[in-house]
Amino acid sequence: MADPGFTPTQLAARAAYLLRGNDLGTMTSAAPRLYPHMWSWDAAFVAVGLAPLSVERAVVELDTLLSAQWKNGMIPHIVFANGVDGYFPGPARWETATLAAHAPNGPQTSGITQPPVHAIAVQRILDHSRRHGRTTRAVAEEFLDRRWPDLVRWHRWLAHARDLDGNGRIALFHGWESGMDNSPRWDLAYANVVTGTMPKYLREDLTVVADTSQRPSNGEYDRYLWLLEEMKSVRYDDEELATAMSFAVEDVFVSAVFSMACEVLATIGEEHSMPNSDVRELHGWAGRFRQGVLTTTDERSGAARDFDLRSGKWISTETLAMFSPLLCGGLSRDAERALLRTFEGPKFCGHPDLRYAVPPSTSPVSRDFRSREYWRGPVWPVMTWLFSWAFARRGWAERSHMLRSEGLRQASDGSFAEYYEPFTGEPLGSMQQSWTAAAVLDWLG
Ligand code: GLC
Repeated sequence: MADPGFTPTQLAARAAYLLRGNDLGTMTSAAPRLYPHMWSWDAAFVAVGLAPLSVERAVVELDTLLSAQWKNGMIPHIVFANGVDGYFPGPARWETATLAAHAPNGPQTSGITQPPVHAIAVQRILDHSRRHGRTTRAVAEEFLDRRWPDLVRWHRWLAHARDLDGNGRIALFHGWESGMDNSPRWDLAYANVVTGTMPKYLREDLTVVADTSQRPSNGEYDRYLWLLEEMKSVRYDDEELATAMSFAVEDVFVSAVFSMACEVLATIGEEHSMPNSDVRELHGWAGRFRQGVLTTTDERSGAARDFDLRSGKWISTETLAMFSPLLCGGLSRDAERALLRTFEGPKFCGHPDLRYAVPPSTSPVSRDFRSREYWRGPVWPVMTWLFSWAFARRGWAERSHMLRSEGLRQASDGSFAEYYEPFTGEPLGSMQQSWTAAAVLDWLG
């Protein structure tokens, strides 16, 4: 396949049109057909992409998401668009409005959460607003003043409700909470999940992506749905989930993202004279979760691991998760250098057969690798963006630039696919995926 090679200007224009096309008014659907609602971490990345186009519209995106925040502080993983069907499990299956004491009064939501990347979006919005006149700056600052307590509440919920023993690692009770639904990272934990009798269901995803090899299997889906039943049986109560759920893991990637997001939010707080006590707490969490990530790592290779709370076993996989410490920092110099070598070497970005030098979700040399299957191998452009952003933040300008230019080369096919086959570059999953367009817009902005 040759690069059709849209020019950067054409590509940016197409990405902007895509986001406009997916705009439902006050929320952007994650993708037009497969995901016709708002997803939590998608919304944050979408706001990153909207910020260079319109700070005002980016603010609306985060406002919509935060309006669906639960009373305990959780940002739910899906905010359902009013009157839109076409996605399963929808509100009727989650039943959060009737079961969960903390569900919001207005919007319909799911009952689980997703990775806390939102502080990054807030930072990008503030950055872009500074390039504009007083009115736009005022919109961004008014947003920050108004939503600051909600952002801190969100982080506090993660630090408390999801780190019960205070070890600096975030517990998840559903693979969907990791954002990497069927990653080999969760195979062991899902093996503990024994499904019982549950209401029948029909998968809507397979009517959009007809090639079943690109999506999770039916066996996987049964377990995903069974976990909802377990959550419903304890009415989504934070404390009860910790014991009731047959799936419970400590996610090292989410923990690293959280540490990084706490640092970002703390810096924003300092720059905008937010309450000292908040800023101090945020710094504290950043440190605690960085430490939590470090305790999972191998001293020599620097590679990080997840932990299965049910079997009490470490989960080592050759997936993006092993690179978590590169996001939040803290490794010794030698270990960090070793981990960067793995990231850039033949197991990941430097694999000789890769079409583009960007990290696949699972290493092609791993026995878990499947080149077309969702989080088991394909390249996810939004992850390339996240690493490129984090590397810039760590002061690795050249590495960040490499990911950006390779990510843009991949995106120049103009499909804005959800994920790509690493060797052929074939676009897979949903086309016109909002966060893929957002990544491109940030890169080209
Ligand atoms: C899939 C992805 C998840 C994403 C959602 C919407 O479920 O695994 O990370 O948030 O789609 O794009």
